[in-house]
Amino acid sequence: MSKIGIFFGTDTGSTRLVAKKIYGLLGEELADKPKNINRTSPAELLRYDALILGTPSYGVGDLPGLTADCQEANWAEFVPHLDDTDLSGKRVALFGLGHQERYASRFASSLIK
Ligand SMILES: Cc1cc2nc3c(=O)[nH]c(=O)nc-3n(C[C@H](O)[C@H](O)[C@H](O)COP(=O)(O)O)c2cc1C
Repeated sequence: MSKIGIFFGTDTGSTRLVAKKIYGLLGEELADKPKNINRTSPAELLRYDALILGTPSYGVGDLPGLTADCQEANWAEFVPHLDDTDLSGKRVALFGLGHQERYASRFASSLIK
């Protein structure tokens, strides 16, 4: 059985922290160290049968990225590269961070973008 791949996008570090906590709970026998989505490739995701993908929300409930005024490229720039990537058969879990009080109407809604 291959390990679980954990990938995250972040602008200010919180999603990285949560990814690290998930990794700590799963342990190194089950999962590989979390990787920042802006330093990886679709081929890297394809190495895993099971993926845990994490993202914050920026802009108007959008994926983080340059278009949402984040500091670096992020999920918004990565997702288009998945158009030609066959993820069928993969088990994928998503987690999202947001600000529930400030953005109640679009809390963590990048998850559905
Ligand atoms: C400009 C800006 C826009 C945001 N937009 C949303 C949003 O639409 N929905 C939401 O739930 N959170 C929103 N947030 C809150 C972030 O998603 C939240 O602070 C998150 O924990 C940041 O994660 P990071 O530290 O990994 O970048 C926004 C924050 C900022 C600064």
